[in-house]
Amino acid sequence: MSHEHVPQSSTVFTPPELAAAMVAAVRGKPNALWLDPCVGDGVFVAQMAARGIDAAQISAIDIAPGPGALDKAALTVRGVDFLEWAAGHRAAVDHVVMNPPYVALSRVQGKLLDRALDVRLSDGQHLPFKANYWAAFLLTAIECVREGGSLVAVLPAAWDFAKYATRVRQTVERAFGEVLVVRCASPLFPKVQEGVVIVVAFDRGAQSCTNRRVEVPGLVETIAALERIARGKEPPGTSTVRAFAPPPLALHRLDEIVHIHIGAVTGDAGYFLLNERERKEWRLPRSALRPTLSRSKHLAGAAIGRKEWAELRDQGGRVWMFWPRRSALRHAAVRAYLKHGKEGGCNLAAHKITKRDPWHRTPLPGRVDGFMSGMSKRLPFLALREMPGLTASNTLYVIRFKKRVTQAEKATLGVLLLTSSVRAELARHARVYADGLLKFEPSELGSVRVPVVRARDDAARVLRDATVLLLAGREAEASAMADDWVVSSGSLALKTRASSTKRCVA
Ligand SMILES: C[S@@+](CC[C@H](N)C(=O)[O-])C[C@H]1O[C@@H](n2cnc3c(N)ncnc32)[C@H](O)[C@@H]1O
Repeated sequence: MSHEHVPQSSTVFTPPELAAAMVAAVRGKPNALWLDPCVGDGVFVAQMAARGIDAAQISAIDIAPGPGALDKAALTVRGVDFLEWAAGHRAAVDHVVMNPPYVALSRVQGKLLDRALDVRLSDGQHLPFKANYWAAFLLTAIECVREGGSLVAVLPAAWDFAKYATRVRQTVERAFGEVLVVRCASPLFPKVQEGVVIVVAFDRGAQSCTNRRVEVPGLVETIAALERIARGKEPPGTSTVRAFAPPPLALHRLDEIVHIHIGAVTGDAGYFLLNERERKEWRLPRSALRPTLSRSKHLAGAAIGRKEWAELRDQGGRVWMFWPRRSALRHAAVRAYLKHGKEGGCNLAAHKITKRDPWHRTPLPGRVDGFMSGMSKRLPFLALREMPGLTASNTLYVIRFKKRVTQAEKATLGVLLLTSSVRAELARHARVYADGLLKFEPSELGSVRVPVVRARDDAARVLRDATVLLLAGREAEASAMADDWVVSSGSLALKTRASSTKRCVA
């Protein structure tokens, strides 16, 4: 058996000719990453390999210890619960092909059951105990698919009739832009009496979903239907079940998307932060300094690149941090500045400085994707970092995306932070000081909820233009521009959601 906690009866094997048609139906992209989360003897891996997909592009998981004859044709991991593996592989693959185990959750045990009951449906509820293991596999596999990716699964006919399956179907429809269900009336597996469905889902992350269905009598017709889908055509007899309106927009907390940390704490800003005039007076070389943003007004646009930073430098801003590299310590000017620090120029007794060794090496934030101000007269916004090596001192927050993301995705978050619903929520969190300064702790910023929308290439332009309006004091116009962009990216639901959020914070 596969595992002491999953009954052997859950394991049925996919006929190779069906596996071939399922792999084709995925419409794999070149260089894509593939996943079979319950590989068994590797019937899908064999078909992927036959299509020339490299072993390094295929992840294959199975709880059964193996080994299997096709293990070398993929990055095969055996003896592991897929649900556990998936926790570390969210949005990690482009295509999933699977035949998940079919067994009532009441017959699964131990940690495997705990993990299955932890799986959530799109309405946020946990999978019920009445459900079947295939549903836990399917929902978990969806989480592994990257935006734009696809999934093909052969599932029991319970997909159509089981009570627990209704919300599973909804979850699939909310996760993909197109779902095609091929319902085969006759049994395809020796141990299973009923027919099966093949669910083919494309365009992970799309805002709306078209759901189509075709009913076929047997294996031959199932394969023919999948082959048509593989060629981008509808199988004959396909009907559109419903074209979904965009689903209600999901909201994510900002701290689910990014880390928000305080910038570098020098311990003595007067000594460590310099402007260009001071740098020149001390003749400090570039290797002794880090370009740094040190004031909220340094966030002068949607993106801070070399040009923007140079303007701040030329305007006299304190945009250098004294941070001598080891090689710079021999430099006479650096030695002179260190001596000046030791002779009273720097407050060496400051707690942050006494704690570190050497005293002049301010710990820097790691990778930085952008900056935000936690203390300003205006509500926070995202300024992206476009200058390599640029950091910030502790008057600013540094932002790091939790996942590697594209420039368009970074800019999309910037636009979302300017939408009226997010501004209203930020306003609610602000602590207003007597002089009109608005203060935010990182945790308060992190708890703000942003809508989940698809990134678009024009996000950088919209972010730039809306930020210009914001910095000119035209906040309402900036928000209107951001709202329009989000709505035009295909989600009218956002407008509803944004206005209802507004209502409840008013
Ligand atoms: C229905 S069989 C499919 C096998 C093969 N992919 C096929 O289509 O012929 C399901 C497979 O899931 C594996 N399995 C069961 N529970 C699992 C778990 N929690 N994690 C990973 N694999 C599991 C079983 O060992 C079995 O190989």
